[in-house]
Amino acid sequence: MTHSTHTSLTRVGVIGCGDISAQYLETLSKYEAVSATTLSDLDESKARVVSERWSIDRVLSPDDLFADPDIDIVLNLTVPRAHYEVAMKAVEHGKHVYNEKPLAENHEQGQALLKAAKQAGGRMGCAQDTVMGQSWQFARRLLDAGEIGEIVGGVMNMQNAGMEMWHPNPRFFYSRGGGPVMDMGPYFIHAIVMMLGPVVSVTALSRKSFNERVVTSQPNSGMIIPVEVDTHCAAILELGTGAFITMMMSFDCQGTQMPDVEIYGTESSLGIHTPNNFVVRPDGSENIYTKGKADHDWVTREPKGGAIVNGRGMGLADMSQAIIENRPHRASGEMALHALEVMVSIERSSNERRTVEIESTVDRPDPLPDGWSF
Ligand SMILES: NC(=O)c1ccc[n+]([C@@H]2O[C@H](COP(=O)([O-])OP(=O)(O)OC[C@H]3O[C@@H](n4cnc5c(N)ncnc54)[C@H](O)[C@@H]3O)[C@@H](O)[C@H]2O)c1
Repeated sequence: MTHSTHTSLTRVGVIGCGDISAQYLETLSKYEAVSATTLSDLDESKARVVSERWSIDRVLSPDDLFADPDIDIVLNLTVPRAHYEVAMKAVEHGKHVYNEKPLAENHEQGQALLKAAKQAGGRMGCAQDTVMGQSWQFARRLLDAGEIGEIVGGVMNMQNAGMEMWHPNPRFFYSRGGGPVMDMGPYFIHAIVMMLGPVVSVTALSRKSFNERVVTSQPNSGMIIPVEVDTHCAAILELGTGAFITMMMSFDCQGTQMPDVEIYGTESSLGIHTPNNFVVRPDGSENIYTKGKADHDWVTREPKGGAIVNGRGMGLADMSQAIIENRPHRASGEMALHALEVMVSIERSSNERRTVEIESTVDRPDPLPDGWSF
């Protein structure tokens, strides 16, 4: 297993230079001890564009990147369908791996990845790391301080009209491994597990409202995409604590006024913006708010503390530091596998019209120290 020591840089090889790569490269550029040194994409021209933009000169084929002894961690930013194959190859070449979500297309693949990484002595990390951002860490602090009380339940909502109006290549959102639950569920499930602990059962219904989607974004405007997955879902997630969370995920909804996330406790209710974002927005369109027993109305809360850098890639930086410090990392493969089991169980629950028990469990990751960086 190749890895750096505290005296050297953790060297990251990025596979998949599409839409999300810019956010990772921006975040990584702000850390001192971890750096993206090499780029790769099935479509080399995409890697070349990113290479130019971020002044990262080394562009290799995926196979050459896997075999490169100068890479410590493979950052897998490919489409969901390729996550398993790319991650497994990286493990087989002795690399640590950090994946975009979902960890894999199905639970068996996810289990195989974790097992292989363990056998190889390497780390497996996976987004989501938005829960390491200032907003969610602040919300966790309110919970841990007992301000919300004993948790009764909550709601999580992510409903929109689809992705074909903004993403340049939206096919994967409607292919196996996509859909609103697999695409957006990881943010919400990681957030709720980070705050309240693991899920023990799932009861859900889901449906597909359109057999095809018409792309309106550029450069593929007019393209017809077949829909292979359910695109509207309601689920109840039972937590180990006995609280339960109602979750709505949809690409078939033309508008909603439901909150992103609310958690209801015996002392207060807590509202938080979508775990797709790391921080409260300066324009006030998204914030954190509470309403306690004595409050007549909701009180907007100013998040304090948190990490110095907030952005996609925090989980990768934490994993790099954790390798050096020989401690667990927060955006872990275990957390992602638990989320994956919850997500595939939502589909199973709907198909089989029954409650599905969740077999895996995971500990809440430690809160991030204030002022954290790497
Ligand atoms: N776009 C977003 O806003 C966003 C946000 C959060 C997470 N994500 C996640 O990030 C991942 C990538 O999304 P994206 O929007 O960047 O997709 P994208 O289609 O824009 O880019 C994916 C890239 O991966 C490359 N690729 C596919 N298979 C490959 C393989 N086997 N080997 C090497 N390269 C391969 C493609 O050529 C493409 O350039 C997905 O898992 C997605 O869920 C995306």
